[in-house]
Amino acid sequence: MRSHGLLRKILLALLVIIILFALAVFFGLFRTSSVAPGVAQPLSDAQMQELRPRGRELALVGDCFGCHSKPQGPMGAGGLAIGTPFGTLHSTNITPDPTHGIGGYTRADFHRVLRDGIAPGNRNLYPAMPYVFTHLTRPEDIDALYAYFMSLPPIAQANVPNTGAFRLPVRQFMNFWNLLNFPNRQPPDDPQRSAQWLRGGYLVEGLGHCAACHTPQNVMMGTDFSRPLQGGEIDGMRVPDITAATLTQRGFNVDTLSQYLSTGIAPQGTAFAGMYTVVHFSTGAMESGDVEAVATYLLTGPDGKIAAPAAPPAPLPAATAADTPASATTATGDAATATAAATGSGADLTAGRLSYMSACAGCHGANGEGIPNVAPAMKGNSTLAMADPHNLISVVLNGVPTQTFPGGQRMYAMPGFAHLLSDQEIAELATWARAEWGGQAKPVTEAQVGAMPRSRD
Ligand code: HEC
Ligand code: HEC
Ligand code: HEC
Repeated sequence: MRSHGLLRKILLALLVIIILFALAVFFGLFRTSSVAPGVAQPLSDAQMQELRPRGRELALVGDCFGCHSKPQGPMGAGGLAIGTPFGTLHSTNITPDPTHGIGGYTRADFHRVLRDGIAPGNRNLYPAMPYVFTHLTRPEDIDALYAYFMSLPPIAQANVPNTGAFRLPVRQFMNFWNLLNFPNRQPPDDPQRSAQWLRGGYLVEGLGHCAACHTPQNVMMGTDFSRPLQGGEIDGMRVPDITAATLTQRGFNVDTLSQYLSTGIAPQGTAFAGMYTVVHFSTGAMESGDVEAVATYLLTGPDGKIAAPAAPPAPLPAATAADTPASATTATGDAATATAAATGSGADLTAGRLSYMSACAGCHGANGEGIPNVAPAMKGNSTLAMADPHNLISVVLNGVPTQTFPGGQRMYAMPGFAHLLSDQEIAELATWARAEWGGQAKPVTEAQVGAMPRSRD
């Protein structure tokens, strides 16, 4: 009897502790401010003026306009819809309009948003605003951003109400999420590394928030920082691994990676889907020194060195067999099947190659060499080299809309083939193209193509 009573008391005590802990989290006791001391003091007009150009560059790095503008809408006035499984969120007006924007923000308010994700009135922001990353921004850089945003023309555009769960008073509950998903990260710091590497690391890990898409997420949709830049998933696209090892495997060096980030076009392909927006609003408008710093940081391995880029993958035996015209090999019978079987890869890829020749070669070239200003090369293209064929299938089904790249470069729009080729044909085509140019032996199945979402038009 006595031991039962004791057990009950212990359980009760535990329960009380758990409830107190939950309340403490709920009311934000763990959310200490990481705002620098001294920011209560306003900046002088002269200081604001001087800081503006630096603030503009940092706003480009942070892609503030990419999120805080509707497509074709006024820059910074907000209203971009961001879909989540719980409802639709809208970015807000961050022009200095006193009613609808951030005209009433003090210097300290702005620091609090970027460092801690808390807006005036103790409003927890949702992590769609990448404060988990802007947290790394140094106080003098936040001042520069503040000076820049306060100098923009104010736009009187009202914020769009959120839908679904976001209409409810749930901001306070973000404290639980923050406790688990908002680590106090610092910019990469290594005295052995160059100033360029340090700058690149500061931008990539912080304002640039590349990891928001390029790092896998956990079940709470938080960033899994234990697998940095190892590839993620966003808006129905597989986001590639951009660790140094993989980038050099794809043939990138500092020049071609800088070219990709600043123009959206490189020997490894073009930027499309979410990455097109990043190039368009952010990396494509950044100063070339910052772009090179980003490329240098990404390509530097754990040993501090930049490895030599790998050559494009050689065609796999099954693809080579399919490439050999049947007429030249009639003497030896069906060489394609024979060689494919001999290499253990099994399939005859001839049908896939023929589909490529009739549907794709007109733009991408018979040898996958691409055509300048028409379409990128398939040979050496990193979309074909991804182990997961998801993006390849998605692009073939749905196409890529006309995109204008920085510097006014344009290519053709790529049509979708959902109505022109059967799932079986697309699977065969993708299998051959991956074996020919991507070094990927795993066949793409008809079921994989069938399961892929298609655009509605
Ligand atoms: C990936 C999209 C995204 C990017 C990039 C982004 N923001 Fe945001 N931001 C949002 C969203 C969404 C909200 C609204 C969040 C909410 O309602 O809780 C927001 C909220 C804000 C707010 C709070 C406004 C208010 O309600 O008072 C400020 C200030 C802000 N962002 C500034 C910036 C700045 C400066 C940058 C660039 C360094 C930036 N944002 C980059 C999505 C983004
Ligand atoms: C009318 C010309 C055209 C045809 C036909 C065409 N494409 Fe494309 N394709 C393009 C263009 C242009 C892009 C780049 C679009 C952009 O990023 O703006 C592209 C992009 C791609 C990409 C994404 C990789 C990258 O680097 O952008 C893949 C993969 C691809 N095409 C495969 C195919 C396959 C397979 C076929 C045949 C089923 C095909 N394309 C037919 C023009 C074409
Ligand atoms: C909104 C999500 C998003 C953000 C943020 C983002 N990316 Fe991407 N990125 C993608 C997607 C999706 C692709 C794949 C499509 C493509 O190749 O264009 C991609 C592709 C790339 C590639 C091509 C890799 C390859 O193998 O060819 C590089 C390099 C890259 N991103 C670098 C960056 C850097 C650097 C940043 C931060 C400054 C960044 N990305 C931020 C979504 C994003």
